[in-house]
Amino acid sequence: MFFHQLDDDTDLHLLEERHADELLVAIETNREHLLPWLPWVSNVNNVNDSKRYIAGTLQQFADGNGMAVGIRYQGDLAGVVNLHFVDRYSRRTSIGYWLCQEFQGQGLITKTCARLVDHSFGALELNRVEIRCASENTRSRAIPARLGFEEEGTLRQAELVGDKLMDHVVYGLLAHDWAGSQSFGVQ
Ligand SMILES: CC(C)(COP(=O)(O)OP(=O)(O)OC[C@H]1O[C@@H](n2cnc3c(N)ncnc32)[C@H](O)[C@@H]1OP(=O)(O)O)[C@@H](O)C(=O)NCCC(=O)NCCS
Repeated sequence: MFFHQLDDDTDLHLLEERHADELLVAIETNREHLLPWLPWVSNVNNVNDSKRYIAGTLQQFADGNGMAVGIRYQGDLAGVVNLHFVDRYSRRTSIGYWLCQEFQGQGLITKTCARLVDHSFGALELNRVEIRCASENTRSRAIPARLGFEEEGTLRQAELVGDKLMDHVVYGLLAHDWAGSQSFGVQ
């Protein structure tokens, strides 16, 4: 199983079925915070939904096709970072993330993404990592920018969230441009 001690207060682990209750609580207490950006949030309404979601991500992990990593800060589930897929042929993946409101502003997502980028270019031997953010989501866009991803372009009206069609800004990072997370001052 995937487990990583990020720092004294924070560890990363695969989401498992036993985390379904606290995942649901985290989503429920942060629904207003997450809904403007993440369309799937409206589909998670009970523990069966969160179990089904976790089961899907464990299957992805077993297939070598992605994973959902829980971020645990001082024992509490603070958020989740996903590898959405692993394309072995083109050696690329895509990262997504969310954080409970109260845990923002400490670099938890930036640091976790840096570790997953290390993992993607290291153990998984991939060549490209992509992050897509809604163009209006300035907090989210700051993360790939902070990690040295290149802004590659805008996909117009790429995703329907609620009743709003969002443009997506695509950020990409190539293995040969990544010198490791320490060089970006992320600890
Ligand atoms: C997008 C989201 C994950 C960003 O959260 P965040 O807390 O801003 O991101 P991080 O955890 O990386 O923290 C960065 C902040 O911590 C600060 N920080 C502190 N220590 C840091 C460290 N060691 N490394 C990096 N940043 C650090 C940064 O300066 C930054 O602060 P600022 O916002 O005042 O500039 C969060 O707002 C969220 O979940 N939003 C709703 C869901 C969403 O939009 N998901 C993304 C969809 S594409």
